[in-house]
Amino acid sequence: MSMPTPRPPDGAAPSATAPAAATGGPAVTDDGNRPDGLRFPPGFGWGAATSAYQIEGAAKEDGRGESIWDTFSRTPGRTRNGDTGDVAADHYHRYVEDLDLMRDLGLHSYRFSISWPRVQADGAGAPNQRGLDFYRRLVDGLHERGIAPMATLFHWDLPQALQDAGGWESRDVAHRFADYAEIVFRALGDRVPVWLTVNEPKTVVQNGYLEGHHAPGRQDPAAAYLVAHHLHLAHGLAVAAHRATGAGRIGPALNLHPCYPADGSPEAARAARLRDGYENRLYLDPILTGRYPQDVLDDLGPDSRLAGGIRDGDLATISAPVDLLAVQYYTPYYVAADATTVPRWPTSQASWQQIHPDGMYDILTRVTRDYGPIPLTVTENGLPTPDALDADGTVDDAGRVTFLRDHLAAAHRAVAAGVPLESYHVWSLLDNFEWDAGYDERWGLVYVDYQTQRRVLKRSAHWYRQVIAANGL
Ligand code: FCB
Repeated sequence: MSMPTPRPPDGAAPSATAPAAATGGPAVTDDGNRPDGLRFPPGFGWGAATSAYQIEGAAKEDGRGESIWDTFSRTPGRTRNGDTGDVAADHYHRYVEDLDLMRDLGLHSYRFSISWPRVQADGAGAPNQRGLDFYRRLVDGLHERGIAPMATLFHWDLPQALQDAGGWESRDVAHRFADYAEIVFRALGDRVPVWLTVNEPKTVVQNGYLEGHHAPGRQDPAAAYLVAHHLHLAHGLAVAAHRATGAGRIGPALNLHPCYPADGSPEAARAARLRDGYENRLYLDPILTGRYPQDVLDDLGPDSRLAGGIRDGDLATISAPVDLLAVQYYTPYYVAADATTVPRWPTSQASWQQIHPDGMYDILTRVTRDYGPIPLTVTENGLPTPDALDADGTVDDAGRVTFLRDHLAAAHRAVAAGVPLESYHVWSLLDNFEWDAGYDERWGLVYVDYQTQRRVLKRSAHWYRQVIAANGL
């Protein structure tokens, strides 16, 4: 991991607080809190998030089919150390213990994802009841412990059979997704108050189809933006299926990145604006306004596969009203005149993450300013740290405490500024399979000893329990 030397901003990005480093940072008191006394509104929801492929394991059990992440991670050279999600955190077998951990932390909300290939092994046809039963047990266990389930329908584990039939380049896959969503709504709709459709469509587009370091491992810019359209269509069709079958609320889960000009030049301002189109508006606008951003369409050109893939009525489907928007915030981008991204803040163990808590404030206030007062939930925010089990049996992840505290303080400022933020979820509840980074990056509040599958609450978990109990910092 490289740690670029942080340098102060040179005028491009106003910043209210100093950046916090991944480790160290401003001094913390014994319990990790500053004596700020920041209280969140009554009823604010405190949660944590996971996803199916990253924690469940049990890759071949109870009728589960293959997903593109099984294929990708088992392909030599694709993941660090050749790691796969075959066992992961073995949550499929240990979910009761994990539910008890959530109760011990005092969580109000648990965001998890449903594995499409557990429900339909090949992505089509009759449901696999054993797969649905697992999620039923999980959801019932959450209710028994007073925790609200928040279920994501798609967190990247596309059934391999659908990839073989064209994957998200195929419009038909959006319709298969709607069928799958309907099955899940019918099975669990009475017990799940909040549904999220597609997790981070942008990551599928960028990592899966532009850069190729995520499944399905393509480097095909033309395909990438058609994939974006079909992911949006899948979202819209799932919203329609939800309205027809279920109660509760539904919305998309988008990872948003504030895009700042790297310097004061007009060229950098222009480049940052276009980058904002590709990072944020390409995803927000079709869903929330029913239009693709014109600057992105122009940049892709009139003959792009995206432009060619939009059929009459698609944007009406895609922009069907949603009940809430889930925002995932990890890092800002500083964009230079030549459109390259320049580092500005300390980089975390994840080479793509610049630690900038004010970006949380900026992105939340921007969404409310530009898209109106739609209810917001933060469904992911977190930091990987090189955690280890100490001889005394504890895990001292002071850097994660600093990171979470600073980001929560920024979220609190956004709430004070009028942002209708109703809940916040740490990524992640447990250490887990971090995609191409395998098990090298630990993102959990809870340490997982992968040899024994023992769970140990990290310092950050104890700290978060206090935050929840106090409803603030
Ligand atoms: C997000 C993903 C999540 C996890 C975090 C670190 O992009 O949604 O699964 O990998 O990053």
